[in-house]
Amino acid sequence: MSRIKSAVGALERRLAGQAWFFHAYTFPYRALLRRELRLAAVQPDDVLLNIGCGSAPFSAVLAAQFSGARVIAVDMDPRAVTGARSLVAGLGLSSRIEVVLADAANDPLPPASVALVALQAAPKDDIWQNLRHSLSESGNRGRALFRIPRAGLESEYGHFTPGTAVRGEVYHRMPTFERTILCAVRADRSVCKVA
Ligand SMILES: C[S@@+](CC[C@H](N)C(=O)[O-])C[C@H]1O[C@@H](n2cnc3c(N)ncnc32)[C@H](O)[C@@H]1O
Repeated sequence: MSRIKSAVGALERRLAGQAWFFHAYTFPYRALLRRELRLAAVQPDDVLLNIGCGSAPFSAVLAAQFSGARVIAVDMDPRAVTGARSLVAGLGLSSRIEVVLADAANDPLPPASVALVALQAAPKDDIWQNLRHSLSESGNRGRALFRIPRAGLESEYGHFTPGTAVRGEVYHRMPTFERTILCAVRADRSVCKVA
């Protein structure tokens, strides 16, 4: 694992349980999450899979709070799963956010209608292929949001080649990623952009 990824993982594991850290850490992500949820038109009747939730599952928490959707947060690291479960319980969100141990590139994933894939989750092409099974069970609604690394950081965070599945994108000003793309399971030519 690269140095940036392991440093982020260690920071999240160490401080995730502390409320001040969680609120400070989530601050830059709040507007970003709203843009992503709007791009994928996430509704309260969606089931959202958050791939790579980490020990501080702020994307899962904000997605549940902002959209009202039920969230299943997934991580392949047992330490991250333990930390995420404890943080979700501490926030009183255990009935709305389930935390599951799985490698999203290889293990069967629970059925869902929409997925949000963390920047650090990899390998992205394998995750997308695997996700298509769990998302296709929701018929025409299946879609996934992928955070895409800035140019030059692909070797750190993983390349993604979604081909014709891309349906839209939103832009951010984060140091490691500037874009989230929306991919659809179903073939459809419409493309949207959200400012
Ligand atoms: C450091 S976290 C960052 C996520 C952040 N807390 C959030 O809410 O967006 C990234 C996590 O992705 C997980 N991860 C990477 N590849 C994965 C995969 N193939 N399946 C599941 N989890 C994965 C890592 O174990 C790590 O905990």
